[in-house]
Amino acid sequence: MGPFGFDYRLVAPEKLLSLDDYRREAKRRLPKMVWSYVDGGADDHVTISDNREAFGRWSFRTRVLAGHAARDLSVKAAGVTLDLPIILGPTGFAGLSYWRGDIAALKAAERHGTRYAVSTVSSWSIEEIARESGVDHFFQLYPQSGELAASLMRRAWNAGQKTMFVTVDVPVRGNREGERKHGMGIPPVLTPRRLLNVARHPKWALDVLLHQRIGGRSLATTGGVTGAIESIEIQSRELMQSTLDWDDLAWMRDKWKGNLYIKGVLDPEDATRAVDLGLDGVVVSNHGGRQLDFTPATLDVLPDIADAVGDRAEVLMDGGVRRGSDVVKALALGADAVLIGRPYLYGLAVNGEDGVAHVLDILREEIDTTLALMGVGSVAELDRSWIVPRASAA
Ligand code: FNR
Repeated sequence: MGPFGFDYRLVAPEKLLSLDDYRREAKRRLPKMVWSYVDGGADDHVTISDNREAFGRWSFRTRVLAGHAARDLSVKAAGVTLDLPIILGPTGFAGLSYWRGDIAALKAAERHGTRYAVSTVSSWSIEEIARESGVDHFFQLYPQSGELAASLMRRAWNAGQKTMFVTVDVPVRGNREGERKHGMGIPPVLTPRRLLNVARHPKWALDVLLHQRIGGRSLATTGGVTGAIESIEIQSRELMQSTLDWDDLAWMRDKWKGNLYIKGVLDPEDATRAVDLGLDGVVVSNHGGRQLDFTPATLDVLPDIADAVGDRAEVLMDGGVRRGSDVVKALALGADAVLIGRPYLYGLAVNGEDGVAHVLDILREEIDTTLALMGVGSVAELDRSWIVPRASAA
């Protein structure tokens, strides 16, 4: 912080070595209101810590003198080949972390040969995003019933998005007290103190506030997929309808001709039911601990879900991935690829597209080093034989 608590300092990317460094720097750069949204979670944040701690319960098996000249990090997931086993998961209002939000993130994903999943409440419209994309990115739907869902699905399809994630863990919003405490909402609740806090982040304020197109996209509404006005309407009706059931998912399966994934599954029976309906995969997720506190850590339920699904469909997972070694553990326990949420928002907050690309650089490097030190030549070789319970965590 500079004089009077004003944040003006730029940080050299070479000083940021890990995703934790990015987190610390992002926290400094964002007004409290935005930080509470990006980094916060439900109730007492128990699930947020559990997601992290689950990775600490595993160690690697290592084999020496494996003789691999290079490691292959590519995977086949969601109907495409990804150069690294990490997808940028859907996050709403990415434009709050950096004004070009979704577009900066998807360009960084393209630089790394992977994909960005565009949220229903993205900051840029699906058509704007399609114009900027070099490849087919993914679409995330908060299921609505009837015409609204059909029109969102049509728009995504016409924009070239052939893979859809239906997020099912938001029948109502989780209790995120941090957001309420700092006035984050639609619209935000501003007080003189909060405005002063925003003013203390002049770079953020200039970038985000001035770049938001007045009328078309305001800080309060964002929600570009459906357009600002429609988005307010969706918000006021609740993003998800708690009345939705498996018949609605079957309806989506019938209507959506591309790959279809259910995101937010923590129970093997739900995973099996989704696969029985013909879905292409499940995303084991607790929404990054933002919905129900005291849901199990995703890594802990991953093996049972992977067993239940078998090779009938893909299994992706997210929640707490902050190191390349975490990615390796998730793949060894049965995931085909992982998603990250907050880490790329930290990247956006610190340095826009380059920040996200650097976050992916760090993860790629860490995965590569981990595999090399384990004696593994490709992520395709990973299975449960490569990890063992960590003795000191028992
Ligand atoms: C999310 N997530 C999310 N998921 C979704 O399906 N649609 C959405 O619009 C959002 N929005 C959103 C906003 C923010 C600020 C965050 C942090 C997360 C959840 C996201 O896709 C993912 O499941 C988690 O973020 C994964 O956990 P980590 O990587 O953040 O620990």
